Amino acid sequence: MTDKELFELAVKAAENAYCKYSGFSVGAALLCEDGEVFTGCNIENGSYPLGNCAERTAIFKAVSEGRRAFIAIAIAGSSDGDFSAPCYPCGACRQVMSEFCEGSLRIILSDGAYTLDELLPKRFKL
Ligand code: THU
Repeated sequence: MTDKELFELAVKAAENAYCKYSGFSVGAALLCEDGEVFTGCNIENGSYPLGNCAERTAIFKAVSEGRRAFIAIAIAGSSDGDFSAPCYPCGACRQVMSEFCEGSLRIILSDGAYTLDELLPKRFKL
């Protein structure tokens, strides 16, 4: 699975975004250590704070299916179908990634690959 292929799965996952309030579609594709990919989209709610980000949808799907080891996550976001601008993960999603992933987790965006260490240094760990 190349970075480009994983990113394309994230773009595809964004098709299912339920984003009637923001109009901003996000898709995520999470590559597990066993090679399986779990995708997710953002799911908004009329009670705004209840909405869920695409990254957390994908991570929660994978964890609820018994996966605990992850290699990479690709994220794509757009308000007009053009996914060329990078969609950096929000702080809450970075923290959820850090619960399950090493600092070496690769975060693949339209402008390249980052590590969790780069995007969330000195993170909280209980
Ligand atoms: N969103 C994500 O899905 N992931 C992020 O990392 C940032 C924001 C979603 C939440 C909301 O549905 C929409 O983008 C606009 O904030």
